[in-house]
Amino acid sequence: MSKRFEGKAVIVTGAAKGIGRAAALAFAREGGSVTIADVDGAAGSALAAEINASGGQAICVAGDIAQASTVQQVVAETVHAFGGVDVLYNNAGVVKYGTVVDMPVEDWDWIIGINLRASFLTCKYAIPEMRKRGGGAIVNTASVQAFASQQTVAAYAASKGGS
Ligand SMILES: NC(=O)c1ccc[n+]([C@@H]2O[C@H](COP(=O)([O-])OP(=O)(O)OC[C@H]3O[C@@H](n4cnc5c(N)ncnc54)[C@H](O)[C@@H]3O)[C@@H](O)[C@H]2O)c1
Repeated sequence: MSKRFEGKAVIVTGAAKGIGRAAALAFAREGGSVTIADVDGAAGSALAAEINASGGQAICVAGDIAQASTVQQVVAETVHAFGGVDVLYNNAGVVKYGTVVDMPVEDWDWIIGINLRASFLTCKYAIPEMRKRGGGAIVNTASVQAFASQQTVAAYAASKGGS
């Protein structure tokens, strides 16, 4: 039986743990070549090794995806390893709770940086590579908080509303 992502190069951000890890394994099972982009290089590399050991194809690019230089490296290493980019899954996300008054400015910037700015950066650098292959697919993970926010999640809700 043919696999749904055979021949496709897939970038998953925040793939070392949680939903991203499950998605990376699922893409690999379906024949996709997966780039695990995560700040946790140890867990990301272990997952890449697990996928490669089971007959799949994966690399890990470790770094903070809120930084343009990291995202450029993620795209460049994906193209180098797998020939291009077909699928981009903007999964990485973080949350910290606090009222607007109490939240440190650094926490606001950290949450917006990973949950929103990083998705802009990955699209900015991946879309030109997708165009070279005639198209691609992008999935951004939002949250129920984007539609009906609780108290003390202003930064997270704003970031997910923007996703
Ligand atoms: N878990 C839930 O109930 C839930 C509900 C709604 C939405 N979401 C969203 O789903 C996504 C995944 O959630 P999860 O629960 O699997 O998260 P998780 O905390 O289990 O995993 C997040 C991953 O992102 C990585 N990461 C964190 N900062 C990073 C950075 N600067 N650069 C690169 N990687 C970074 C972490 O190392 C980790 O591997 C997030 O966007 C989250 O907001 C989750």
